[in-house]
Amino acid sequence: MVDIAENGRTWLLSGPSSSYALHLTDADELLHLHWGPRIALADAEALAGSPLPGYWPFESPLDGREEYPVEGGPRFVRPALSVRTDERRGTEWRFTAYETEGDELRLRFADDGLAITLHYRMRGDVVERWVSLDNGGPARVELLRADAATWTLPEREGWRLSQLHGRWAAESRLTTAPLTYGEKVIGSRRGHTGHQHLPWVALDTDATEERGEVYGCALGWSGSWRIAVAQLPDARVQVTGGAGHDDSGLLLLEPGASYTSPVFAGLWSDGGFGGASRTWHAYQRAHVVPDADRDRPVLFNSWEATFFDISEEQQAALARRAAGIGVELFVVDDGWFGARTSDRAGLGDWTPNPDRFPHGLKPLADQVHGLGMQFGIWVEPEMVNPDSDLYRAHPDWVQYQPGRTRTELRNQLVLNLAREDVQEYLWERLDTLLSGAPIDYVKWDFNRCFTDAGWPGEPYPQRLWVDHVRALYALLDRLRAAHPGVAFESCSGGGGRIDLGVLSRTDQVWTSDNTDPLDRLAIQHGFTQIHPARVMAAWVTDSPNTQLNGRASSLRFRFVSAMAGVLGVGGDLTEWTEEELAEARRWVELYKEIRPVVQQGDLYRLRPPSGGLSAVQYVRGDETVVLACLQAQSHGEPVPAVRLRGLDPTASYECRETGEVHRGAVLLHHGLRTGLRGDLDATVIHLRRI
Ligand code: GLA
Repeated sequence: MVDIAENGRTWLLSGPSSSYALHLTDADELLHLHWGPRIALADAEALAGSPLPGYWPFESPLDGREEYPVEGGPRFVRPALSVRTDERRGTEWRFTAYETEGDELRLRFADDGLAITLHYRMRGDVVERWVSLDNGGPARVELLRADAATWTLPEREGWRLSQLHGRWAAESRLTTAPLTYGEKVIGSRRGHTGHQHLPWVALDTDATEERGEVYGCALGWSGSWRIAVAQLPDARVQVTGGAGHDDSGLLLLEPGASYTSPVFAGLWSDGGFGGASRTWHAYQRAHVVPDADRDRPVLFNSWEATFFDISEEQQAALARRAAGIGVELFVVDDGWFGARTSDRAGLGDWTPNPDRFPHGLKPLADQVHGLGMQFGIWVEPEMVNPDSDLYRAHPDWVQYQPGRTRTELRNQLVLNLAREDVQEYLWERLDTLLSGAPIDYVKWDFNRCFTDAGWPGEPYPQRLWVDHVRALYALLDRLRAAHPGVAFESCSGGGGRIDLGVLSRTDQVWTSDNTDPLDRLAIQHGFTQIHPARVMAAWVTDSPNTQLNGRASSLRFRFVSAMAGVLGVGGDLTEWTEEELAEARRWVELYKEIRPVVQQGDLYRLRPPSGGLSAVQYVRGDETVVLACLQAQSHGEPVPAVRLRGLDPTASYECRETGEVHRGAVLLHHGLRTGLRGDLDATVIHLRRI
C-alpha cells in the first residue's frame, strides 16, 4: 500500500507490520524519513517537517539522510550513483514525476538526457528497491557505479552487523560484530555470488533470536556485487549495494540505452533474528522462488557415490537402490557427456559420452522413470575445458586478455556469455538436450571464478561482468519457458551462487559441497537466516565422510541433519547393507510425512549449533516438527529440554511416533525432553495439535 501526501512530496509504503517513508524537499533532495513499525501518513508528514541540521562546511546535512546519494554536490558519503560523460562526471538531478502502479512507487528524476527512476515495492513486510537509468540524451553515459539502493537506519547507539561468510565447503557461517566508524564492505569480485559472503546483512543493537529490532538487506544478483555498510558520524548508518564490486565502470549507456539494477530487498522486524528470517522465508516462498508452494522431491545425486567413473549400467544399479529407499528424483552428476572422464576434458560438449551412454541418456531416463522416479542431469554450461571440441572450434569464445595466459582453474576456462554466438550455442545445445531425453531436472553448476575477464575487439569489455549474468538469467528464463516441466538447481561448487536473483529462476540450491552432517548444522544455521528450507538441498552421504574430514556418524544423525531442508541422498547405495537400506527407507518415509511442515512451515531456530544440543522447529497449521541434534554430551550432564515456539499455549499436542500428549503451555515454557544422549545423536519429533 502506498500513501501519498497531498503536496505529492511525501510517500509512505506499508506492509502488514512495517512502514517505509520518504520525502522530497523543495530543492529536490530525496530524504529518508522512516523504516520501522507501521506509522500513519500524518506521522510521516510530521517527520518531513523537521528541518535538516544546520550546515557546516566540513559536514553535509544530506549525508546519512538521502535515499539515493548521487556523486556531486555537498555530499561526502559513498555515492550510490556515479556516472560520467565525455564532458563531466556526477549527477545534478531534477525531480520530474512520481507514479504508482499496483504496489510499486516510481520516483522519476532527470539530469540532462539521463532519466533516473527509483523503484519501491512492498512485498509483505519486505521493501524491494531498484533503480533504472535511461539515456535519452545525445551523449554516451558511462555508469561507473549504479547501486540498487541505499538503506538508512534510524539513529541508535551501538549497531551490530551480522553477515554470512565462508569459503568452499564452509559457506554461510553467521558472524556478528559491533559496527565501528567507517565502512564495512562485503562482496564478490569473482563474477559469481561467491562462497565468501551471501549477499545479505543484518543490523541490530540488542536483538536476540526471539526479540528485538532487526534490519535485513539482501541483494538479488548472481555476479560480482558489493554491499557497503557505513557508520557515519552522529549515529547514522547507511547500507548501499548493487552489482559490480569496483567503481571502475559497470556499463556504457549509448544514446537510447538503459540499465536496470538488481533488486536490493530490505526488511525491518521486531521479532528478533527468528522473526526477520521468517519474514524473509515467507517473502521468498510467495514472491521469489518459482512454484514454491510445490514441495520438492527427495533426490538421489550420484556425485559422491561414483564421481567421474560412471556408466549407464552402474547408474541404473544405483537408481534401483535409490527407488528402493523411496527416492523420487534420480540425478546423474558430472561425467555423462563429451570426453568427461575426469575434470580435464569435455566441458562444453553437451552430448552424451558414446562409451558410457551408447544410446544417449534416454535409455537410463526411461529406466529411472520406470522405477517411478524423475530423472535429472548435471551441467556446467558457462564453462569449457581447453580439451573439448567446443574450445578447439572456438578458442575466442572464452574470456581472455590478448597476449596473456588464460588462467585455468579446475582445468577450465569461462565462456564469454556476453557474446550472442555463445548464448545461441548454449541455448541450442541445452534445448536439444532437454528435448532429446525425458529430463525433469537440471543441476546447473559453475565451478570457477572469473580471472581474465577480457573481451578482445569489444569497445567496452567491462560490460562482460554484467552481461554474463544477464545472459545467464535470459538463458534460464528461456529454458524454463520452453521446458516448463523441468526444475533447476543452482550450484557453484556447492553454495557459490545463492542469492535472490538466481532463486527467482531456480527451484532449489546446492547449499554446500560439505555433506558432513555436523558441519552442515552450522552452514544451515547461517543459510536459514535468509533463505527458506524449501530451497536448501541437503544430502545424506557415506560415513566416514569421504570428501572432507573422515568423520563417522550414524545414519540417524546424517538423516536428521539433512531433513532440515530438501532431503537428498548422495552415498554409494550399492555399498550400503540391507539394514542400512531398510533404515534409510524408514527415514525417507518419515521425511515425506513431515515434508510439508519443513518445506512450507515457519522456521524457529530453537538452539544454535554450538557444541551441545541444537534444534530447529517448523510450524505449519496444526503440525509441528522438531529436529534435534546432540553433538556431544559432557560429564554426563542432563541434556536440556527444548522450549518450543509458535504453539497455542491452550492447546494439546500429540506426538505422532509415541502417542504421548503434551500441553502447549508446557512445551512453550518448560520444553520437551528429546531423549538424546552421547555423541552425535539426533531425533525427529512430529507433533499434531489435538
Ligand atoms: C561441483 C558440485 C558438486 C559436483 C561437482 C561435479 O563441485 O558442487 O556437487 O557436481 O561439481 O564436478
